[in-house]
Amino acid sequence: MDASELRHQYMEQSLYQKELDANPLKQFETWYAEAIESNIHEPGAMSLATVDADDQPWQRIVLLKLFDEKGFVFFTNYESRKAEQITSNSQASLLFPWHALGRQLSITGDKVRLTILRNGDPLQLTVKVGVARSQQVQAEKLTPLLQGLRVENNPDGEGVLVVAVAPNSAAAFSGLRAGDVIVGANKRKVYDVKSLKAALLQSSTSVLLRVDRNGGSLYIVIR
Ligand SMILES: Cc1cc2nc3c(=O)[nH]c(=O)nc-3n(C[C@H](O)[C@H](O)[C@H](O)COP(=O)(O)O)c2cc1C
Repeated sequence: MDASELRHQYMEQSLYQKELDANPLKQFETWYAEAIESNIHEPGAMSLATVDADDQPWQRIVLLKLFDEKGFVFFTNYESRKAEQITSNSQASLLFPWHALGRQLSITGDKVRLTILRNGDPLQLTVKVGVARSQQVQAEKLTPLLQGLRVENNPDGEGVLVVAVAPNSAAAFSGLRAGDVIVGANKRKVYDVKSLKAALLQSSTSVLLRVDRNGGSLYIVIR
């Protein structure tokens, strides 16, 4: 079926909430399949909006590589402006402009999962769009030593996920990066933000963090 025929069909139908799948991912899957079937050009082309350090929004087209319950994945370059913006502010929005079908699909959230290419090797940054917003915490509320760090309970398991690192902050100078998962602090295991807070109470002058990054593990000392 071609796009104009489908567009005609969709325009004649109303969109009722009760007809939508309760699982947004399943609904996306249905609509994405329809976009592919309609033969529109690049159904996976989406506009990605990010925000820079001065709160200026930016948009550009990227191509959807895969999607699952963890989020929407596209590939980009580690050095790109969008990667830099998402690293310091994970608020983002995606828009699939399926206007040929009389449809647009917008996904807004606080995380984007990116696969970035660094020296030709793909690295995963775990930031997602469109999944329920989790409770994020400014880590400086846990200790001033972590000023500039935004964290949340790791949605993929144990530990605390670094969601964002403000440029030129104490956290940025420590070497922490968005996508890191803090799994230990001051030699105590970190399961979540609550246990990180408890571990940080052990010392007010320095913190020893154990961090999982790209499948490996490293220690970071912050003074
Ligand atoms: C059809 C189309 C598809 C694109 N797909 C991607 C993509 O998947 N990843 C990407 O990094 N850039 C892609 N680009 C280029 C981006 O739109 C953008 O120009 C570039 O990544 C630099 O953006 P930035 O300076 O905001 O980081 C695409 C451009 C077009 C026109």
